[in-house]
Amino acid sequence: MATAPKISSSSVPNDLAPFWMPFTANRSFKARPRMVASAKDMHYFTPEGRKIIDASAGLWCTNAGHNRQPIVEAIQKQAAELDFSPTFQFGHPKAFELASRIAALAPADLDHVFFCNSGSEADDTAMKIALAYHRAKGNASRVRFIGRERGYHGVGFGGTAIGGMVANRKQFGALLAGVDHLQSTYNRAEQAFSVGEPDWGEHLADELDRLVALHDASTIAAVFVEPVSGSTAVLPPPKGYLKRLRQICDKHGILLVFDEVITGYGRLGHAFAAERYGVVPDMICFAKGITSGSVPMGGVIARKGIHDAFMTGPDHVIELFHGYTYSAHPLACAAGLATLDLYRDENLFERARKLEPVWADAVMSLKGLPGVLDIRVVGLMAGIDLASKPDAVGKRGYDAMESGFHDHGIMFRTSGDAIAMSPPLIVTEDQIDEIISKVAAIIKQGA
Ligand SMILES: Cc1ncc(COP(=O)(O)O)c(C=O)c1O
Repeated sequence: MATAPKISSSSVPNDLAPFWMPFTANRSFKARPRMVASAKDMHYFTPEGRKIIDASAGLWCTNAGHNRQPIVEAIQKQAAELDFSPTFQFGHPKAFELASRIAALAPADLDHVFFCNSGSEADDTAMKIALAYHRAKGNASRVRFIGRERGYHGVGFGGTAIGGMVANRKQFGALLAGVDHLQSTYNRAEQAFSVGEPDWGEHLADELDRLVALHDASTIAAVFVEPVSGSTAVLPPPKGYLKRLRQICDKHGILLVFDEVITGYGRLGHAFAAERYGVVPDMICFAKGITSGSVPMGGVIARKGIHDAFMTGPDHVIELFHGYTYSAHPLACAAGLATLDLYRDENLFERARKLEPVWADAVMSLKGLPGVLDIRVVGLMAGIDLASKPDAVGKRGYDAMESGFHDHGIMFRTSGDAIAMSPPLIVTEDQIDEIISKVAAIIKQGA
């Protein structure tokens, strides 16, 4: 049975005010904090030692489970060996080793890796690479980006602009110029309670042709999509949709970027969703699962042709004027290598693939509970739409999350009144049952 690891520092801060918490209802949290102090495998533990089952892999990131010994040891060893080394004009071996390992897992000729520290940085990096690539190829007029409604690409100005979550955009002015959006692939009337990728909606990819007709292909740099939208409570792509997007991008010379910050590293039963869907994008953004959430890291994997387009001009001149102080930080690289070892040694991607039908059946058993409007499930992800309370949109979701933590010992994500789940890939069938029975109780209680 999992027990709480020892906690090293003071576990309960005496003043909650100074930390302005991200994407949090600060006043509600501070009135009744949901605090965790340690974690192991499938569980968090509160400062008092109460056990919380993690149904969301933290923030969709601890795919190998929490505090896995090989990752912990790799980080500890690395901290003692090389704390920091610049990757501007210098290098350290693990950065190259990790890039090779990531490239080997990526499909086709996606074989060059640019490191950064988060999903947001990965998206903004891919946007800059797309612009610079077209410029290098003599197509400097290709400056527009196409995102998608209900998409999430982090919180940089680029990612916010191509993202399609209204609440994330409306506070921040005009964002980037020259961004347009495909419509969301979600249609409840056509798709409700689909298991896996819905049958309806492939044709929605054709909207890209309409946007191209409006803006002209010569002005468009890239299309960014999450293969499965995560943050808006799990929207799997309609069957055939991503292939069709690929064809339309090819027809018009537009780059296709898959934001795999959530879908990468086993969440859909493969190293990348690109493999599951049989589509080769021009770039893949990754983060989260690369270190199983243990050290911040993100990056962009680019196809050979994109990378090679930059390798011109005098040898001593920097080819891409972009990078972060902490690109390929030694601790992140050590954590990434240990995490990839764990995924391989424990066959965790395959495990997720095998568990997918068990997970799908379990989650779909919630159909018919009061106020459940739709359930979506794909890979080890699930989204459950709950009916909103009249005049209090988001309150039912908030209450579910709060009661889940305080009363039922479970952590999951919510987006408005939807519950989103994505357990670590080490979840057992018994733990799936436990998660679902807790969620069922919470849904009934909130009805
Ligand atoms: C698809 C996607 N892209 C980008 C991001 C942003 O990642 P980060 O929070 O590491 O900046 C996220 C985070 O959830 C994400 O789900």
